Amino acid sequence: MSTALLDVHLTEADADAALRADARAGLTAEPKELPPKWFYDARGSELFEKITELPEYFPTRTERALLLDSVDEIASASGADTVVELGSGSSYKTRVLLDAFTRAGTLRRYVPQDVSESALRGAMDALEEEYPDLELHGVVGDFTHDLDRLPKGGRRLIAFLGGTIGNLLPDERDRFLAHVRSVLEPGEQLLLGTGLVIDPTVLVPAYDDAAGVTAEFNRNVLRVLNRELGADFDEEAFAHVAVWDAENEWIEMRLRAERAMSVTVAELGLTVPFAAGEEMRTEVSAKFRPDGVREMLTEAGFELNRWWTDPEQRFGLSLATAV
Ligand code: AVJ
Repeated sequence: MSTALLDVHLTEADADAALRADARAGLTAEPKELPPKWFYDARGSELFEKITELPEYFPTRTERALLLDSVDEIASASGADTVVELGSGSSYKTRVLLDAFTRAGTLRRYVPQDVSESALRGAMDALEEEYPDLELHGVVGDFTHDLDRLPKGGRRLIAFLGGTIGNLLPDERDRFLAHVRSVLEPGEQLLLGTGLVIDPTVLVPAYDDAAGVTAEFNRNVLRVLNRELGADFDEEAFAHVAVWDAENEWIEMRLRAERAMSVTVAELGLTVPFAAGEEMRTEVSAKFRPDGVREMLTEAGFELNRWWTDPEQRFGLSLATAV
């Protein structure tokens, strides 16, 4: 019999308060911006899944192939008895990790962390059946500030895959890594996935696909604000923009107002003017250089132990130890 526990540190009320604060701050900022985490309601999560299957969007399949190739080395180099997975949305990667750590013979406990309680419950129900000997301890929370709620004990490895660290701005990223380090004991580990800097002619289409799925995904944040905050964004009036920022080495997604308009956000008592052509940032997706990954890990108090990359050097996996 397995044991399954679920800790909820983020209720719907917490998420709603966070959305309100982010929307108010972002829509009144100059230039306007919205954080990418609000893309992912049920429809946004489905659109993201569709993105991962697009011919232009290489990161997911590249990371998947790289992980499959290196996961037994990762597991034996790690020796962790607890795998913690941040943003454990993708069930495929979970199983690849759990199977490898099971083969390595060290795995005892799996700690999935996600913002969605329903997604987490669904995933844990399935895992309970598939891995009856595994101790499961789910944590509902936001990985940017709820990591001190992770269960202690054992020898833990925190996996943060998908290149999601690139969606944090530099100061958020530094704070996040410092936070991860602060909840770990010396010797515990981090497995980090990072998209790498490559030719922008390959990178940009991954964020501006011919079928327009990424455009739909981008505009989905407006639907979220309409539904959750009683806003009246006219989705059709916003164009999808994806550009490579060579200085910051990140992809920036924006929504461009195609005409001047005034948007009302009823639940915030806010009227938001848009000029024709005005662009609002909705996501950065930073790409890294191998030296930059090592540097940011070192600065956060980790030592990089092993590094894996695909033949085309599009994606990197780092295994690092808290020092
Ligand atoms: C969530 C980090 C995997 O930044 O590539 C995909 C999100 N945005 N297309 C990324 C995303 C636009 C994605 N990750």
